[in-house]
Amino acid sequence: MKPKVVVTREVFDDSIAVLAGHCEVIDNQADVPYTPDALATKLAGCEGLMCALTDKVDAALIARVPHLKAVANIAVGYNNIDVPACTARGIQVTNTPGVLDDSTADLAFALMLATARRVTEVEAYIRKGEWTGWKLKQWLGVDVHHATLGIIGMGRIGQAIAKRAAGFDMKVIYHNRTRVAPEIEARANAAYVSMDALLAQADFVVLQMPYSPETHHLIGAAQLKKMKPSAILINSTRGGVVDDAALIDALKHGTIRAAGLDVFENEPKLNPAFLELKNVVLVPHIGSSTEATRRAMAMTAAKNLVAALRGERPPNLVNPAAREQR
Ligand code: DGY
Repeated sequence: MKPKVVVTREVFDDSIAVLAGHCEVIDNQADVPYTPDALATKLAGCEGLMCALTDKVDAALIARVPHLKAVANIAVGYNNIDVPACTARGIQVTNTPGVLDDSTADLAFALMLATARRVTEVEAYIRKGEWTGWKLKQWLGVDVHHATLGIIGMGRIGQAIAKRAAGFDMKVIYHNRTRVAPEIEARANAAYVSMDALLAQADFVVLQMPYSPETHHLIGAAQLKKMKPSAILINSTRGGVVDDAALIDALKHGTIRAAGLDVFENEPKLNPAFLELKNVVLVPHIGSSTEATRRAMAMTAAKNLVAALRGERPPNLVNPAAREQR
């Protein structure tokens, strides 16, 4: 008998086909998000779950799904999953590293360029029919080229951002929990500095570390005050690493120049004060959202899940200890 799996959100047909080759698939191509209760009900008798960051896989859910053996998240980040609780139950958890690095780095750069050159602000002005002609001092922005880029979080995506910065002749500095290997620093042409030095020197501060209790509000009022008044903050990683209320205050009072945000605390219910600000560019968590990348993420998750349910070690297992529990 094929193992039963639930896919919580709409995905591309090719990943459903991969799952269907090995499993009985309960899909949700209608894409109506499940409540925690509905998800627990759907998972009755299921061994696999393919889910997204919109699904909370917490201890309460895990306690209700005794047959569950594997959870494949369609994301590189997995802060929506209580990994220790899964490990304790022998449930393997997987993510999708690698396939989204370049697209996410592109989006971080799009936010840098859009904030620096005020792209969304001027687009709104043109659409309102307010443009009456060219002026020398109109809509002055700041340069991205030759500026100092400070990357906090020098994993794969941070490195992909540094690679792009080389094409803009930027000086790259970075901070990471642990300093990366000399060959990675050399490839990224990036100098390791303390967090305070990065905040004080960078024209663009880009956040690319995972969200965890340790990185919650890593950027708050105190850190924003350490940045240059001309600096721009880019958050393309996870809501919660920035204290949004403190950021709004900093943007209102000119503590920093601008921000470009792909992610928010409590998204999609972002703090409404953001909508009143002109010096912030807002996009709805689309860092990895190109067709090729989202397709690759769903396919990676499907393959991870199939491998786990066939008893093989899934390629992107985040909790190897879970296999020892079985
Ligand atoms: C990830 O992979 O963590 C992204 O945020 C999903 O879009």
